[in-house]
Amino acid sequence: MCGIFGYMGPKQASPILVEGLRKLEYRGYDSSGIAIKNGDFKIYKKIGKVAELQSILPKQIPGNVGIAHTRWATHGGVTDPNAHPHLSENGKVVIVHNGIIENARIFRSILTRKGVVFHSETDSEVISHILEYELARDNSPTKALRRTLSKLVGTWGLCAIFLEHDVMVCARNGSPLIIGQGDGETFVSSDPHALSTHTQRVVFMEDGDIATLTHDNITMSNIHGHSLDTDVTILEEEWEEAVLGDFEHYMLKEIYEQPDALRQCINGRFDRVRGNGRLGGLKLTPLELSKLPHVRLLGCGTANHAAEIGGFLIESLARIPSFAHISSEFRTNEPVINPNALHFAVSQSGETADTLSAVKEILLKGGKVHGVINVVGSSIARLCGQGVYIHSGPEQAVASTKAFSNMVTALTIFAIQVGRSRTLSKEKGKEIIDNLQQLPHLIEEYLEHQGPIMEAVDLVKHAKCVLFLGRGISAPVAKEGALKLMEVAYIPCLAYPAGEMKHGPIALLEEGSPVIFVVPNDHVKEKSRSAIHECRARGAKIILIHEAGDDISGEGDINIPIPQVNNYLSPMLSVIPLQLIAYHTALALGCDVDRPRNLAKSVTVE
Ligand code: M6R
Repeated sequence: MCGIFGYMGPKQASPILVEGLRKLEYRGYDSSGIAIKNGDFKIYKKIGKVAELQSILPKQIPGNVGIAHTRWATHGGVTDPNAHPHLSENGKVVIVHNGIIENARIFRSILTRKGVVFHSETDSEVISHILEYELARDNSPTKALRRTLSKLVGTWGLCAIFLEHDVMVCARNGSPLIIGQGDGETFVSSDPHALSTHTQRVVFMEDGDIATLTHDNITMSNIHGHSLDTDVTILEEEWEEAVLGDFEHYMLKEIYEQPDALRQCINGRFDRVRGNGRLGGLKLTPLELSKLPHVRLLGCGTANHAAEIGGFLIESLARIPSFAHISSEFRTNEPVINPNALHFAVSQSGETADTLSAVKEILLKGGKVHGVINVVGSSIARLCGQGVYIHSGPEQAVASTKAFSNMVTALTIFAIQVGRSRTLSKEKGKEIIDNLQQLPHLIEEYLEHQGPIMEAVDLVKHAKCVLFLGRGISAPVAKEGALKLMEVAYIPCLAYPAGEMKHGPIALLEEGSPVIFVVPNDHVKEKSRSAIHECRARGAKIILIHEAGDDISGEGDINIPIPQVNNYLSPMLSVIPLQLIAYHTALALGCDVDRPRNLAKSVTVE
């Protein structure tokens, strides 16, 4: 998604900005640009990777103040002029903007009538022109920004610098922005991890905040003109810069990181003696837990699939009705919120706009939300104020892999903890905990013996469509496998609970159609076996993910064994061959595995 990085200080801004952009790259973008103040503004913009922007930059661009941007197109195509920064009419103001200005069209026509010439098709460009116009009124950048924002409808993470003022002004409304305070230098970024090599001292901006920066000072106020305290916090968890090491792609690296990521997630989070989870972030008393009417889990994409598995586990282990919802649907469908219910917001980035809005909706209606989040200090984590970090470490590939496993793991521990306060026995709790502790080894065992993944790749890589089927806890795993293959290899995929196959999708099957079945050795295995037979009878070729030594092995045309695993924990293992099939198929088709087309790592627009 779009990214912002800005710098003011004694150093040359250009290399710092380019490095900042590189750190934002993983979020997904289609063009980038920088503006450096030096007499006038030197602006460079280019579609494609940051490396392509670098290729057009002069060796040196003198200047100690600058802003930079990675753009993920929303309004206007992927072109150099549409890339940010955007300069105002008289060249006095330059801005970068994340978010969407909903009333930009009105201002475009007003400004055009006043003689302003637009140089891009973006909604963002109006901001630079309005800001310049407002600045002319009283020559105060902060006041001009405030008046500009009061005219705009939409969302923004916004940063502007001025030719005639040594300040940088920033504003946040629905799109993250973090200020960094160094020694005699200040930074701004849309992602805290792009700041961590420069400083640990940060100010997380909240919606409605305005920050006015000089090289050695941060002044906070809000859109109404009230002063605010500059609340400097220390970045709690410093992620080391992700490096590829021996791996060719981040996606493969992150698949292989799953055992260690899982160890990080479970470390110190069990009370084995009581067969209980020990998540300090579950802020409900045993009495409140015993009276929970239901549980709702919210997420998008992979996070939604993890939420579905979490819902299944909470209902099974804690005997509370549990439902997973797609965040974007939930918030617009006028949900009835029960303040006694338990809500979970599941998100790797903690910045997904749809999930963030759903959380706001729940809070507005008096509900409580727990976060299940990877990025420490992210907007959703801070808004929930309670919950659990999943500790996957940085996930760079757009396709989420290790975060999925850790979301499911964290929700499993929640399920045990909620379950133990209700009907789950100590013995059952202990059994699941013991099995969870074994899980990293089982994943390592599978990664050493992956089975005929490449045969599966040969079967799916030229398919018109691939059908993914699973039942019970494996139905969301099938969905996750379909999402992975679709997003990195661009193959149309359909995922269904296996029992639904005969109610429609079966019509797709013809001689040689690939169908991937996820069938662990659980209580619905025999039902899945029948579905396999129904598919085979129609000429489909079956790729079967099954437990090693199980009597269902051999039912597939391609059989991929995973180690035997506790029924409640099978998703963390059965998803891995699906991730590998997606990865290797994308490679076989020459796709950009880590940066699939059109996608962004963190989707901060609704
Ligand atoms: O950061 P989040 O977990 O909230 O992101 C949610 C989805 O955008 C994300 O899972 C997306 O579906 C991934 N590209 C899946 O691999």
